[in-house]
Amino acid sequence: SAAEKGGYDYFMLKEIAEQPKAVADTLLGRIGASGELTLDEVRIPQSVLREADKVVIVACGTAFHAGLIAKYAIEHWTRIPCEVELASEFRYRDPILDPRTLVIAISQSGETMDTLMALRHAREQGAKVLAICNTNGSTIPRESDAVLYTHAGPEVAVASTKAFLTQLVACYLLALYLGQVRGTKWADEIRAVVRDLAQISGQVERVLETMEPVRELARSLADKNTVLFLGRHVGYPVALEGALKLKELAYMHAEGFAAGELKHGPIALIDKDLPVVVVVPSPRGRSVLHDKIVSNIQEIRARGARTIVIAEEGDEAVVPYADHLVRIPATPTLLQPMVAAVPLQVFACELATARGNEVDQPRNLAKSVTVE
Ligand code: G6P
Repeated sequence: SAAEKGGYDYFMLKEIAEQPKAVADTLLGRIGASGELTLDEVRIPQSVLREADKVVIVACGTAFHAGLIAKYAIEHWTRIPCEVELASEFRYRDPILDPRTLVIAISQSGETMDTLMALRHAREQGAKVLAICNTNGSTIPRESDAVLYTHAGPEVAVASTKAFLTQLVACYLLALYLGQVRGTKWADEIRAVVRDLAQISGQVERVLETMEPVRELARSLADKNTVLFLGRHVGYPVALEGALKLKELAYMHAEGFAAGELKHGPIALIDKDLPVVVVVPSPRGRSVLHDKIVSNIQEIRARGARTIVIAEEGDEAVVPYADHLVRIPATPTLLQPMVAAVPLQVFACELATARGNEVDQPRNLAKSVTVE
């Protein structure tokens, strides 16, 4: 009913709007007075966390994209090798698992059969499994060694939005916690990241206030057949997620690519007026990444593509090559996905609406897939 949707036309719009709160709620109670992480619910002995020599993340759909992003933070902050695998592929390839493997199963619903079967297989091999889940008491956390709940509140729309952002928050908290327990991150470094994480909620709020041009752009592209998404580093999984949203909601052909791969194939797809969304990393921090993507934007624009550029406020280098510029607040490189994903959600939702699609219940899809 309209009341359940809180005055919004769709649950998806309501859930997009709830993201600032969802992000803040997922941080709540997990940071101690002196900025250290207090993840008491991670009931895996610290000795096990200290001795883990590999992290393997398993998930499906949007949760898999959260896992792909988490890998960057986990490896950067803990120096533990981290693999990310689609749950449906994982157990069929005889993966190498042992008691020193920490498996992280990410699932909004906690009921996805592929993810459940992957974690069962991991535990049979003696690995420890930690679930990141949004649904209290669901099957995946019940069958795991420990669970870190995301506090997004119930997510009703089939296409995941607020759960995704909170999965990222939970993954970052976990990565910092592993760094804390293993001594690869110093207390002052952890405090600094925690401070940055605490800013994200307000930054998402600001992004949401500036979405009208994105909606207008989406409406203007309603008759297109294809949209491409490019990103580098953590922007690459953001590109994959932007493409997935468009498939799910707008039933359009959409693909995400690592921008560096353009020259190895995808550039052949670039055509006049083809909309290409580019997620641009912060020019501060790793400026090499930024410079490379600016030249990618130049390359595709020189071939006639219509460039839709998502870039940090104050990034002037992209301005000459952007047909449409979407500004996001400046964040540290690793945290950018939480603000960069938001315009892509709004874009897909508006395109779906413009095409007359059912936003909350896209054809052929289910919120939670309980068959393999
Ligand atoms: C389905 C949904 C997706 C979701 C995926 C994983 O395919 O349509 O939105 O990302 O399942 O769901 P989970 O509940 O495990 O996060």
